[in-house]
Amino acid sequence: MAGLFITIEGVEGAGKSTQIQMLLKRLVGIGVPALVSKEPGGTPLGRELRTLLLSPHASGEKWCPESELLLFYADRAQHIATVIRPALEAGRLILVDRFEDSTRAYQGAQGIPEATMDKLGEVVLGRLRPHMTLVLDMEPAESLERVRVRNAAAGETFKETRFDNETLEFHTRVRKRFLAIAQRDSQRVALVPADRTPEEVHEAIWAHLTPLLRSSGHPVE
Ligand code: TMP
Repeated sequence: MAGLFITIEGVEGAGKSTQIQMLLKRLVGIGVPALVSKEPGGTPLGRELRTLLLSPHASGEKWCPESELLLFYADRAQHIATVIRPALEAGRLILVDRFEDSTRAYQGAQGIPEATMDKLGEVVLGRLRPHMTLVLDMEPAESLERVRVRNAAAGETFKETRFDNETLEFHTRVRKRFLAIAQRDSQRVALVPADRTPEEVHEAIWAHLTPLLRSSGHPVE
């Protein structure tokens, strides 16, 4: 069976983690050799980069968008080389929480030109593309409220705040970029309304995924 590369994208609080866990359980349940990873943070180097990228910068220094961009690509390069490609070569289905489309949406919303990401993407991804990308879509005002409740429940424990603290206007621009990606690349990207119950969102995702699973030789009843 061929390896499959699936990515899940969306604004903060859209329910990616919940959906990934539900999907993993179902895939494993029908015997698909699936594994889950994420960006940033899918490798030991990536976890260090994630802490650096997402925690408030101790010095208070404002990073220029290009520095941040390169750190996301450093995370991705390591992730592709040591996790994604080996999984695909082993014929596994790898489900990745955020990938290149997050860079296009977030760093794009910070003003990085598409042409810059095209160049870096060429170096880091080469010809690698996800077989399917699921964009969980919802109003940022609503999804950020979910994040606020989740962070409040986490109390004093470490919270990753970097992009959670951006303005609603920023997240609205990010959402628009995800919508534009879905429209432009509709062969690869499925847009999934995420302002539903987790079960409804899961069923919508499953419906998008089953033709791909079947055509790749995976058993789906
Ligand atoms: P997460 O907790 O949903 O994985 O979020 C990680 C944060 O990093 C989220 O705010 C989106 C952001 N991000 C980027 O800005 N660019 C990227 O390329 C990636 C992968 C994530």
